[in-house]
Amino acid sequence: MKKICVIGLGYIGLPTAAVFAKAGYDIVGVDVNERVVSSLNKGEIHIEEVGLPEVVKEVVENGKLRASVTPEEADVFIIAVPTPIHEDTTANIDYVVDATKAIIPYLQKGNVVIVESTIPPRTMDDVVAPLIEEKGLDTGYDIYLAHCPERVLPGRILIELVENTRIVGGTTPEAAKKAADVYRAVVTGDVVETEAVTAEMSKLMENTFRDVNIALANELVKISQRLDVNAHKVIELANKHPRVNIHQPGPGVGGHCLAVDPYFIVEKAVEESPLISTARKINNSMPSFVVQQVQHLTSELEKPVVAVFGLTYKGNIDDIRESPAIEVLEMLQHSNRYELRIHDPHVRADQVSFSLQSFEEAITGANVLLILTDHNEFKSIQTEDIVNKMKTPVVLDTRNCTNLDESKATVYKIGNLSTIKVI
Ligand SMILES: NC(=O)c1ccc[n+]([C@@H]2O[C@H](COP(=O)([O-])OP(=O)(O)OC[C@H]3O[C@@H](n4cnc5c(N)ncnc54)[C@H](O)[C@@H]3O)[C@@H](O)[C@H]2O)c1
Repeated sequence: MKKICVIGLGYIGLPTAAVFAKAGYDIVGVDVNERVVSSLNKGEIHIEEVGLPEVVKEVVENGKLRASVTPEEADVFIIAVPTPIHEDTTANIDYVVDATKAIIPYLQKGNVVIVESTIPPRTMDDVVAPLIEEKGLDTGYDIYLAHCPERVLPGRILIELVENTRIVGGTTPEAAKKAADVYRAVVTGDVVETEAVTAEMSKLMENTFRDVNIALANELVKISQRLDVNAHKVIELANKHPRVNIHQPGPGVGGHCLAVDPYFIVEKAVEESPLISTARKINNSMPSFVVQQVQHLTSELEKPVVAVFGLTYKGNIDDIRESPAIEVLEMLQHSNRYELRIHDPHVRADQVSFSLQSFEEAITGANVLLILTDHNEFKSIQTEDIVNKMKTPVVLDTRNCTNLDESKATVYKIGNLSTIKVI
């Protein structure tokens, strides 16, 4: 049975390590964060993901998964470290470079090295391969090098890791095959072999497609406010066309994928990517668009109380990275105009630098309930839960996720803002 060394034990690396361990492989998980390593060795996890605590506990207890701060010799190395952007939106691939350098002393002929981190086009050929070659190993013969991007949905990671189609891009056809075989042992979906750069671009284009499509919906929101049309209705009807699929608008696009990956393409082909850049700008404009609506609604109130519901970049997860909700919150805080009550049942106090309130504390006495994330808890809010507790029962639902009785509460949804009235 193969031994696999997984570098980076976050939202991707840890479930990946767990899935291979559950399938019987010997896994050593490596992370630079000692807290992650020590908690994992106790069978505990530091992230929220459905089903993961149980699987990790099992594979740690049966000795198939253990964690360490240093890599070890193995048959396969899987790198799943972060790839954020710098302030200027250029890709920060330092973690990938560091992780690659960290495994080099442990590489042996015949090893498979897979980068799962999302990376700019040509990173495998122009950055990772040369680092390994520099140390005297030939990536044509000695080491099989491949990029296998992730496309899992948080909340369904354990299922999708196994069932999704995987794209495996090798720096050589032989490397693609060797790396694809690693996944074929646990994946029930298709495993498609291709070149590294094609795999890099296909991952980036998946997220870029979605970012551009959401930008289209967000632009429609602004057009609809001007033209007095309900954008949600427009999208619903347009999507009845069998070949149309307009995405849903919202308070912006967050997370470290959709809000980041398009920049990796723009950086490498700036003149050829005006549409991708514009989509990013439109989506980046949405938090301030939401804040403008709050300002307008409350313009005649002194120190309005705003209950801010939801901080994560999407519903039913605990991830607040690049979250547009955080941006909205910071703008509201910065203006000093509001008394803010912040509630998110999925976010822990140690993730944020401000205090979080319970549902009751946040809603009682509020002038506006501002919904920024479509958690199930918010979808199921009943009109009775809020109307008698709020000072003025006004809801601004930027996710079109609530189903409140509009005869008892004033509800504005992001696609239907033309009727918005000052409280
Ligand atoms: N989270 C997702 O849903 C998702 C989906 C598709 C692709 N991705 C991509 O997968 C990659 C990993 O994302 P993530 O969400 O798992 O990140 P994460 O931040 O949750 O986890 C990364 C882990 O890597 C560790 N790390 C950093 N540098 C290291 C090093 N040199 N050696 C060992 N460990 C190191 C960190 O301490 C952290 O625990 C990124 O490129 C991301 O874009 C993520």
